[in-house]
This record gives sequence, C-alpha cells and structure tokens, in this order.
Amino acid sequence: MIVLGVESSCDDTGAAVLRDGRELSNVVASQEAVHGPFGGVVPELAARNHILHVVPVIERALADAGVELGDIDGIAATRGPGLVGCLLVGLCAAKGLARRLGVPFVGVNHIEGHLLSIALDSEVERPFLGLVVSGGHSALYWARADGSYAVLGQTRDDAAGEAFDKAAKLLGLGYPGGRAIEEVARGGDVHALKLPRPRVKGAALDLSFSGLKTALWQAVEAAPELPLRDVAASFQHAIVETLVDAARRAIQVTGARRIVVTGGVSANGALRDAMSRLAEDEGATLHVPPLRRCTDNAAMIAYAGWLRLARGESDPLSLNAVAELPLGPRIAAGEA
Ligand SMILES: Nc1ncnc2c1ncn2[C@@H]1O[C@H](COP(=O)(O)OP(=O)(O)OP(=O)(O)O)[C@@H](O)[C@H]1O
Ligand SMILES: [Mg+2]
Repeated sequence: MIVLGVESSCDDTGAAVLRDGRELSNVVASQEAVHGPFGGVVPELAARNHILHVVPVIERALADAGVELGDIDGIAATRGPGLVGCLLVGLCAAKGLARRLGVPFVGVNHIEGHLLSIALDSEVERPFLGLVVSGGHSALYWARADGSYAVLGQTRDDAAGEAFDKAAKLLGLGYPGGRAIEEVARGGDVHALKLPRPRVKGAALDLSFSGLKTALWQAVEAAPELPLRDVAASFQHAIVETLVDAARRAIQVTGARRIVVTGGVSANGALRDAMSRLAEDEGATLHVPPLRRCTDNAAMIAYAGWLRLARGESDPLSLNAVAELPLGPRIAAGEA
C-alpha cells in the first residue's frame, strides 16, 4: 500500500511517501529563515509559507519516491494539535487530493506521529512509555498494547523546546533555540548556575518549565560575567535532569520495559545520553529516532496514517483541523 503523508502543524511543510510502512521519500521545507528574526514562530507567516510550499513539497516527495499520483492508495495529514491556520493548509491539500484521486483519507494526531516516528526504523513492542519533548509539548504517554494511548503527565506551562527557544532568545543565541544552546553548551560547566528543578505539587509526573526560564534570567542578571558556555550548559542540564527525573518516576510506577523519547528536543545529545543511562539503570530499552526524524516530518504522519488505512479505516472529508487534540485520557501512573 502506497501512502502519501502531509504535515503542516507548525513551521515545517512536509510530505512523505511510504510503501507498506517503509519510507520511500521524506521532504521537509523549513521556515527557520522566516521566523529566525522573530525568535519564534509567527503563526500567520507560517500559514502563508505553507501555502507557498505545500504543492512543491508534495511534488518533490512523489518524484523522490518515483511514484505517480495514480499510484497512491491513501493519504494521511496532520489534523491537530497545532496552529489551526497552518494545519488547514496541509489538511485541505490532502483532502483535495484524496477527493480528486478517489482514495481514502485519514487525519492524524501529530503527537501520535512523533511517538511512531520510531517505528520507521525499528520495531518497538507495546506497551511502552513515551516521552514526547517538542516545541509545543512535553508529556509522558502510556502506549497500550491495543494501540490506544493515555497521558501520565504533562507540562503545566511551557514545553521543553519552548523553554530552550525562550532561553536562547534571552541569551541572544537565535532560533531554533535548542540546537543553538546545545552547540554553545559544549564543554561548559553544568554546575556554574544554580537553577531549580521544578516539580508540580501533588502531580509527580507533571512538568513545569516557565519558572526555570525566569530563574535563568535572574541568574544571568546577577552574574553577567559568567561565560555563555557555562550558562547554556547549566540551563540544558536543568532541563535534562527535570525530564529524566520525571521519566524515572514513570518507569518505576508503570514498570515500563521500553522507553521511547521523541520530538525535537530528543535530538539533544545530553538528553539522549542521560536517558540511555536511565534506561540502563532501570533495566529498560531506550528507543530514540535518528536525528532527522526528531523534529516535524511527514514520514511519521504517513506511518500513523498507514496503520489505520491498512485496516480499511478512513475519515470523512469534512474532518476539520483542531488546535487541541488530546491523544488519550489522563490516567494515574498506577493505572497504566
Ligand atoms: N538539539 C536540540 N536540543 C534541544 N532542543 C532542540 C534541539 N533541536 C531542536 N530542538 C527543539 O525542538 C523544538 C522543535 O521540535 P518539533 O519540531 O518536534 O516541535 P513542534 O512541532 O514545533 O512542536 P509540537 O510537536 O509540540 O507541535 C524546538 O523548540 C527546538 O528548539
Ligand atoms: Mg512536532
């Protein structure tokens, strides 16, 4: 079965072609240069740029895969969560094409896409514990054997990627911030700045990063002479430790044997190293996608769509884009 996937939930326009769940092509048009001067994504500009890119990106994905429009058996597109103006562009392109070709269409949850990005390279048996750390989300999921998901914990304010981006803006490091901070932090002293490890009272698996950003600002004001390298290293370390602590508690309560870490922040080397030490300590297996699949891409959307299309499922063409789209119910870790 040949599936075309389309992704446009934030600032990357993506299209990918899979054959029976294996990637034939995966094209991403990045808007980093558009949003860089603003230090973050400007929703209206992102939506307008998706309009410019969506058709060429789909054409490129088909050409790279050596596939013609008539070969496509089904189309998947991100329907949420994300910026609605952006989602609508990819979703409408996908639905229009599905109608024109007379093939089934499915709308995909972007976060399920991130969790399944791992499956394009290696099989991960369910159940597994999923940590999605991206620009808009930081949450722990329980991926059940029956294919459904539940939320074990999530950020109460900023996402980890958002915290990296805001800190990078504060430090004058540009956008996207996570990669910039990681580069500057190389060789820096992770203990140079005393930063808090935020915990949410009464919700051991919930996260909070907004206080960390304020603490960074205050610490830098108080000690402006500190080398940028040490400041960046301390901030990165605080985020990594906060995520690893939450993951440790989740593993201990759920007894998870497999851990998936995905989303843009999973590209971070310090987080990957710390998570792999955690997995080793806990006797679990760690699965992280290759770097190019950590950030937004359409192959992960096509994969999540393919699972449903292959079962004969489809969505009506009236399916709309939604800004908020929970992947599953919130449950206590003990219920996993
Ligand atoms: N090496 C890195 N270290 C830390 N953070 C990183 C790194 N590379 C990218 N990021 C962060 O990843 C985020 C982008 O990830 P992604 O594309 O998955 O997010 P998004 O799609 O914008 O958000 P969401 O998936 O929640 O809708 C940015 O905040 C960026 O700073
Ligand atoms: Mg994303």
